[in-house]
Amino acid sequence: MRRPFVAGNWKMNLNRQRCVELAEGLSAGAAAGLAAEIAVCPPAVYLDAVRQAIGDAPVGLAAQNVYFEDNGAYTGEISTQMLTDLGCQYVVLGHSERRHILGETDVDVAKKVSAALAAGIKPIVCVGETLEEREADRTTEVVSSQFRGSVGHLSDADFEQVVIAYEPVWAIGTGKVATPEQAEAVHADLRKLIETSYNADLASKVRIQYGGSVKPENAVELLGQPNIDGALVGGASLEVESFLAIASAAPIAG
Ligand code: PGA
Repeated sequence: MRRPFVAGNWKMNLNRQRCVELAEGLSAGAAAGLAAEIAVCPPAVYLDAVRQAIGDAPVGLAAQNVYFEDNGAYTGEISTQMLTDLGCQYVVLGHSERRHILGETDVDVAKKVSAALAAGIKPIVCVGETLEEREADRTTEVVSSQFRGSVGHLSDADFEQVVIAYEPVWAIGTGKVATPEQAEAVHADLRKLIETSYNADLASKVRIQYGGSVKPENAVELLGQPNIDGALVGGASLEVESFLAIASAAPIAG
């Protein structure tokens, strides 16, 4: 069965010392045993410090972005090899902030997904509709098209390494959380889409996280939905206590 996966996206927050303290606190919590797999996504400049703070604790390390070229004249970009060098196991790709603020397209995301997989890094690929799109009843269309454009090109073996994160844009950082029913409906649609695009076996294996104002108070209900396999957490991942409370809300797989 799918083991729940809760990842903390620290975005462009904290400083070196606070990143290290947070990683140490989470490592101590994870070492005590959690049903869910957990990972943290610090700002790229602190990945190395966070990896050292994690040590041998069962906390995954994820980058928030990567470039698709191997090396060369790409000022400001970071390659997949640089991430593996720092011990990253995951990379968040296609986050709505990158799509909507930095102008990333599905084509960019697809290239980054392929580059990450080729380097042995598992992509957490985000999809999600804006409020305008939801109100125009276009959620399924938008999410399906982002899914096809970002991960539709992969082989079965590659797709098995992917984690999908459904993040309605209107729920990110706004305090407006999707109801468990709203989230579950999109997750169920996504799992159907995996089945038709790939196959039933992959649909039963690939994890789909929910993201958007996940807090300790709403995590049990959200993470208890049959097709929600964990969370991608922003704001509430910046404190040890709230992140561990969310991670502890994930039901035991089985
Ligand atoms: P939030 O962010 O939990 O602060 O809404 C979620 C995300 O962007 O991944």
